[in-house]
Parts: sequence; C-alpha cells; structure tokens
Amino acid sequence: MNRSEGFPLKGYLAERKAVIDRALNGYLPGEGNDPPVLFEAVRYSLFAGGKRLRPILCLAAGEAVGGNSEALLPAACALELIHTYSLIHDDLPAMDNDDYRRGRLTSHKVFGEGIAILAGDALLTEAFRLLTRRELMPGIEPGRLLAVAGEIAEAAGGVGMVGGQALDVRSEGEQVDLETLHRIHRLKTGALIRVSLRAGAILAGASETELASLSDYGRQIGLAFQIADDILNVEGDRTSLGKETGSDAARGKVTFPALLGIDASRARAEALVIEALGSLASFGEKAEPLRAIARYITARDS
Ligand code: IPE
Ligand code: IPE
Ligand code: MG
Ligand code: MG
Repeated sequence: MNRSEGFPLKGYLAERKAVIDRALNGYLPGEGNDPPVLFEAVRYSLFAGGKRLRPILCLAAGEAVGGNSEALLPAACALELIHTYSLIHDDLPAMDNDDYRRGRLTSHKVFGEGIAILAGDALLTEAFRLLTRRELMPGIEPGRLLAVAGEIAEAAGGVGMVGGQALDVRSEGEQVDLETLHRIHRLKTGALIRVSLRAGAILAGASETELASLSDYGRQIGLAFQIADDILNVEGDRTSLGKETGSDAARGKVTFPALLGIDASRARAEALVIEALGSLASFGEKAEPLRAIARYITARDS
C-alpha cells in the first residue's frame, strides 16, 4: 500500500511535462501557416500550462508493460491535442461559459467564438493526423496504431467524451440521479483518461491481462479525477487552478458535491484510488509512477 509514497512524483511529472511540451511544439504546424490567428489560437491554449496528465498516463502505461516511452510520444501528444480541444469548446458561452482556463483568458475571450471553435476543430483533426504519421513511429506495428486510433476515436466521440458533454449540458439545472451522474463523469472525463492508458499499453505490446488491469486502473482514476475536479470547483483556489471556482453551483451543474456533499464525494474519490492501486497489484516496480499518480489525483490542488 505504501510503496509509491516515496516516489519522487513532482520531479517525474515536471520532467515528463517538459518532454511532452517539446514534442508537441515540434509536431504542430507553425504560426507561419495561414491564417496565422488560427495557429496562434491553437498554441495559445495548448501552451498555457496544462498538467499533461493524459499523455503522461499514456507513457507511464507503456513503461509499466516494459515499452519504450519515446516511441509512444506521438500518440501521447495526440491525446493532449484532443483534451485541449475539449477544454476550448467546454469553455464556450454555449457550454460552460468560462472566462479563465489554464491561468489565462479563455480562447473565445481572446480570439472570438469563431476562431475558438475552429482552433478546437483544428486540434481534434491534428490529433488524428499525428496518429497516422508513421515516420514518427517507425518501430510500431501499423495494426496496433490502427487499433489505437479506433479506440481513441471511440473514447473522444459521441459514445465517449462528446456524449458525456452532451449529457452534462442537457442536465444543467435538472434533477439527476447518482447513476446518471456516474455516466456523465465516466463519459466526459473518464473515457479519455482510460483510453490514454489503453493506448500506451497497446502500443507497447501489453498482454491481454496487463491491458485489462490498466483499463480498470484508468476507469477508476478517470472517475476519481472528475470527482476531484468537482470538489476543487467548490473549495479549490482559483489561482492555483487557473480557472474559476464556484461556477458549477452557479450554473446548476450536476456534480458529486451537489449530490452527495463534500465529505462523501471525497470518500468516494479516495475509495476509487484504492481500487486503482489494487488494479496494479500484479505489476512490479515499473508501475510505481502510475501508483504515485493515482494518489495524486485526490491530493492535487490544480
Ligand atoms: C480539466 O482537465 C478538465 C477535466 C476533464 C476535469 P485537467 O485538470 O487535466 O486540465 P489541464 O490539462 O491540467 O489544464
Ligand atoms: C470538462 O468537464 C470535461 C471536458 C472538457 C470534456 P468540466 O466542465 O467539469 O471541467 P472544468 O472544470 O471546466 O475544467
Ligand atoms: Mg463542462
Ligand atoms: Mg467546464
């Protein structure tokens, strides 16, 4: 149980974030493309300082099954492109109508709604282009890449994240039961987190058993992550979060704190983290980063 408590997570996350940021910068079309404002908007949101959790999970899953994380970088970065697009669209006036994200004004506040929508579209499309750039992943079997592209599309689309966002929007101000709330959170946030682990594991050649365990871990921390996000919206600090607090209650969002209260929400998130650690029981030392990340999900302040 206490194995990962000595793991130097802060340094690990910082090092991984630097590697991912460097790769993202190299893969993206430059601001010299036309019209420059579109590429400026893409970079504005992407390099505003996200935690890079999804790509970090992808690389860590690959390493947990003995893979080389360098070869997984394009897929890891594709996940961050999709995540960043989802944030730009999530903040739009027609959705959560938020003014701050990653410590900056939101994309539509700076570039206008039209360019913000299109920056999101460009990020989503670029993610799948990146997944097809075989020259960046010479050691990876095309069949595995195809499987991963399919899984990511499923997790990000209407039966995944986009479906969850639709349920979230439709549920504003409504009475929603716990089962529906679970469904919203698993889809809008859990699906992309879970597929981040699956992508890393598949590309690194995980066995069926390893893949199943990493999927379970992903499902458990994915839900815990969104419960923690709900809690931070109530009692987090807007400066460290880089986004507004109190907005969920103001918009009548269905959240865990609204339905269960803060204490029960925290207990639920912590129970999921313990379950996630259990899912890694058959892994050795190489899963230490994943264990430390699971603990961090509920302890984080940003
Ligand atoms: C925020 O995600 C949106 C949710 C799905 C809860 P993150 O907390 O990972 O945001 P960044 O990438 O660090 O900005
Ligand atoms: C974000 O959910 C989920 C996606 C962007 C897919 P929230 O709306 O709860 O996240 P924050 O709090 O704005 O980051
Ligand atoms: Mg939202
Ligand atoms: Mg939001």
